[in-house]
Amino acid sequence: MARLANKVVIVTGAGSGLGRAMTHRFVDEGAQVLAADINEASARATVEGLGEAGTAQAAFRRMDVAREEDCIAVVEDAIARWGRLDVMVANAGIGAPAPIANLTLDDWTRVLTVNLTGVFLCDKHAFRAMRQSGGVIVNMASIAGLHGSPGLGAYGPAKAGVIELTKTLALEGARFNIRANAICPIWTQTPMVDAFVAGAAASPETMRARLIGDIPLGRLGTPEDVASAALYLASDDAAFITGLAFPVDGGHMAGQGG
Ligand SMILES: NC(=O)c1ccc[n+]([C@@H]2O[C@H](COP(=O)([O-])OP(=O)(O)OC[C@H]3O[C@@H](n4cnc5c(N)ncnc54)[C@H](O)[C@@H]3O)[C@@H](O)[C@H]2O)c1
Repeated sequence: MARLANKVVIVTGAGSGLGRAMTHRFVDEGAQVLAADINEASARATVEGLGEAGTAQAAFRRMDVAREEDCIAVVEDAIARWGRLDVMVANAGIGAPAPIANLTLDDWTRVLTVNLTGVFLCDKHAFRAMRQSGGVIVNMASIAGLHGSPGLGAYGPAKAGVIELTKTLALEGARFNIRANAICPIWTQTPMVDAFVAGAAASPETMRARLIGDIPLGRLGTPEDVASAALYLASDDAAFITGLAFPVDGGHMAGQGG
């Protein structure tokens, strides 16, 4: 039995990396997925990559998570197409790596606006749509929201905010049977991390070795690792799980040594 049979799902940031992997996995598991992204061409490519059967279960649309009217419209679009909304995956995010002393106010504001305000807006309007019959919110946070991360002075605080937003949603949603959980990936192989590695002063080989050095299981995460966690949290297998910040981190949060 498909684990998301007939569930209606929105994935933001669906045009790349984790969003694309989650869209594909959710469709494989029977969901109808609205793949939303600020980059319409990449959202379209995500849907076209599903093959004929999968394409019938998915649609794409352009949206900017920082614009409230876009967040309202994406929820209305999913309901107009498929009759309801069961799962919101608020995944869209950006990075602006810089030590705090060099972080511009513009970069700080941009990262907070997309990574925290954008999640708030998507969750708010999904929550309103789910109050009648329940639902699931999955927010994409990060390990950088669980501890300090030098060089991620805007990104980490935004992700910490996502975790606290998620816990509050879990408490406010419980009486409506709305569950809310945050996923906290460590370094995962996506275009975002490729750009981070390419922009570093050290060579790409040195940077990758450094990133892997933080991970007891000895490799970077894959988008499929994160999609598996998202599938679990979105499915009824996690029916009693809410308010969690769920690391997908190869053991990083377990501590040091070994
Ligand atoms: N890759 C990692 O190592 C990692 C680790 C922890 C958390 N994350 C988080 O996972 C999420 C996905 O990251 P990724 O690695 O797949 O990145 P990515 O850059 O590959 O994909 C991000 C997608 O979000 C879209 N997007 C950006 N701004 C948007 C906006 N305003 N509105 C709508 N869409 C927008 C982009 O067009 C892109 O398609 C992000 O929230 C990121 O912070 C990633």
